[in-house]
Amino acid sequence: MTTPISQRQRAEQAMRRQWFPVARSIDLDKPQSATLLGEKLVVYRTESGQAVVQAARCPHRGADLSLGEVHGENIACPYHGWQFAGDSGKCSHIPALEDQCKIPPGAAIRTHVCQERYGHVWTALEEPLFDLYDLEEWRELDLEWAAAEPLDSPTGVAVAIENFGDVAHFAYIHRGMMGKTNPQIEPLNVRREGLDVWMDRPLQSCEGEWANDGDCMMNYHIVAPGLVAITYDYERLGKRIVAGFPCPESYEHVKIFWGVANDREYKGENLQECLRLEELLYLEDLPVAATITPPEIDWDGTFVEHSTAADLYTLNYRRAFREFIERGQVQPVRLVDEPRTMP
Ligand code: FES
Ligand SMILES: [Fe+2]
Repeated sequence: MTTPISQRQRAEQAMRRQWFPVARSIDLDKPQSATLLGEKLVVYRTESGQAVVQAARCPHRGADLSLGEVHGENIACPYHGWQFAGDSGKCSHIPALEDQCKIPPGAAIRTHVCQERYGHVWTALEEPLFDLYDLEEWRELDLEWAAAEPLDSPTGVAVAIENFGDVAHFAYIHRGMMGKTNPQIEPLNVRREGLDVWMDRPLQSCEGEWANDGDCMMNYHIVAPGLVAITYDYERLGKRIVAGFPCPESYEHVKIFWGVANDREYKGENLQECLRLEELLYLEDLPVAATITPPEIDWDGTFVEHSTAADLYTLNYRRAFREFIERGQVQPVRLVDEPRTMP
């Protein structure tokens, strides 16, 4: 008899086939080290400008390629200088060999899918189930992105996203940046379609340093499993954005990549000031978020939790995440005809 797999295991399986950010585009002047769901990766930009994500372990003697150097379209290992091609991952040069025809034929590293968007480099461990996030409401804007310094948090992706989309904590955690705000939450205007969850909410005027550009609509948008954003729509000033995309280094520990973007027409604070204020806000969240138990949403229902109408947005995100888990159970397409055992 086979043991049924848990929802957590199913979530982990689906996440291996999902896009996550692993580096900021601005950091690719030298190779970067990244970890995605326990797998060590190297992220770099070749001389022709192509961003590459590959397995970090050198198949010669196991050194970490993120300590190496880019040579043209290849990454060179820091230990004995073996080079691997950015496109195929095949070993392309071994300095110790007089005859390059003697390169061991199987010497190669795994190359992952890679795209750059919203100021970050994105990848997936296995064939992605969905296209990389591309929010419709941003396509007509002329956005300038500033990728923030990533933040470390001992929580899972869904807990990190929920914290960003949670509105009932402002009166407590953000007393510093927002000042005194009303703890009572009005009926929330939430809509979900598949993996997308939206909520529109007027920004309450507050005494704190944050939100000193005046009243606006906050258009929240989460796409399960891992993107959350607020588009601030000011009648007088135009639009600006803050967005978070936590990367699961492990199932219960994220590196939160995030950033801000202003429409080039935006007449409020400049991009760096928006980044500074949003970062101060985020830093108020992290100490409490780090105490959340369990550190990732309990998809298997082991822990007791009670919810109210003030949690409507994050509850809908949980529904979207469950749908992501379900849709993630599709088996990857067989690219080669592997031999199968006859029954
Ligand atoms: S360990 Fe990488 S070249 Fe030897
Ligand atoms: Fe917060």
